[in-house]
Amino acid sequence: MGQHMYLGIDIGTSAVKFVIVDADQTILATAERPLAPVQPKPLWSEDDPEKWWQAVASGLDELARDHPRPMAAVAGLGLSGQMHSAVFLDEKDEPVRPAILWNDGRSTKEAAELAQLGLDLQCETGVLPMPGFTGPKFLWLTRNEPDAARRTRTLLLAKDFIRLKLSGEKVTEVTDAAGAWLLDEGRRRWSDRALAACGIDRSLLPALTESRAPSGLVKADLAARWGLSRKVVIAAGAGDVAAGGIGAGIVNPGDGFISLGTSAQIFLADTAHQPDPGRLVHAFCHALPDRWFRMAALLNGASPLSVFARWSGTRDVATLLAEAEAGFNGPSSLLALPYLYGERTPHNDPLARAAIIGMTYSTTRADVVQAILEGVAFSLADGLDVLAAASARPKSVALIGGGARSAFWAKLIASILDLSLVRFEASDRGPAYGAARLARLAVTNEDAQRVVVPPPIRDVITPDAALCEAYRPRIEAFRTLYKALKPVWPSVSGA
Ligand code: XUL
Repeated sequence: MGQHMYLGIDIGTSAVKFVIVDADQTILATAERPLAPVQPKPLWSEDDPEKWWQAVASGLDELARDHPRPMAAVAGLGLSGQMHSAVFLDEKDEPVRPAILWNDGRSTKEAAELAQLGLDLQCETGVLPMPGFTGPKFLWLTRNEPDAARRTRTLLLAKDFIRLKLSGEKVTEVTDAAGAWLLDEGRRRWSDRALAACGIDRSLLPALTESRAPSGLVKADLAARWGLSRKVVIAAGAGDVAAGGIGAGIVNPGDGFISLGTSAQIFLADTAHQPDPGRLVHAFCHALPDRWFRMAALLNGASPLSVFARWSGTRDVATLLAEAEAGFNGPSSLLALPYLYGERTPHNDPLARAAIIGMTYSTTRADVVQAILEGVAFSLADGLDVLAAASARPKSVALIGGGARSAFWAKLIASILDLSLVRFEASDRGPAYGAARLARLAVTNEDAQRVVVPPPIRDVITPDAALCEAYRPRIEAFRTLYKALKPVWPSVSGA
């Protein structure tokens, strides 16, 4: 019998990503399939779960065609996915309506009502209830689409819907359950109080396990279709944030990362559950049994840049970044707010919107790009301040996600946050890579500390002292701009 391989699949927001990893933790093959979530109404963000499944199946068809030998050697499959989604299934396990995603703001009223239940419940569930979370969205459904709520027999998160398709099992695990606002985070079990508050009967929920636990096997007909062995174990896996942490080897106290994908997070690992809901910190279960993390969750990471790329007539973000870098000579005189989807940490403001302020007759495309890069970095500075208020400020964290590819953007972020950023090889495969590691743990039952280690370091981006100084007043101007525009959001959000 040859070397075992592990397959990681990340059901992201804008793409499904696949990696096959060997026993030396080297990536042997990758694939990617685009997804296209829709915004059918102001504040709404939805996708069709069946399209996720089609994307997964077609990516696996490609891997089976192009990499048949590694596929035949796959012993374990791990799943990761966008957190907080709500997939509502009927008695035949078919979606009763499109899934409601993490960046959906429709359940503002329900989240505010749940917040009235007090700080004690927020400490239990690890975070203030916010509109993007699964629990408040179920409450919205019962009130606004009662027929769909009545027909719902199962409530799943994105990756767990794919597990159901792959194995027939209804299982979730602690890191995704955490983001549902339905978990007792400290005890790592469902919170009866949160379930009751959201009107969710326990029978709607899947079985709950730890992330590294086996959750079933790939169905025989699918294994045959993809040239897999008949015994591919599916690990429970993890929500994309925790899976990114596993991929980057960030599991011990003092370790942290910034993830710059469609959304962005600042993440600090810990050995205890330390809730701080008043500051909009998310204190959630990590993907190893005795680990938790604290996170500033930002809804707008690289997406403001890709949206601008669409308007500006180039889809090539690399060209825009190169233009901005070539024209760079210190902080921009423009200010950009990145809040395309509203914001969670530190504002809990689904109505906030993006803005660019300060344009003149001579403003160029490169100026606007620079302002957008800075705006995202300023919002990360807000997130870091929130985390640092509750504990020690890190001196260095990893930078992962697609946005980590740009050394120029990384330099701006390092200087604006006054923080060193460690970049890894293959940093944009984070959650899928982490899911493959969880698959390995599910198969081999090894000591996690031997497997969940940082990947090889590509480089370390350090803050530039002069830029740190120059940016300080700009961060304050950014904060002033958000406050000044807040009264305007209700009239521009379309809600
Ligand atoms: C984390 C969050 C997003 C989603 C989608 O709190 O909302 O990262 O997981 O990636």
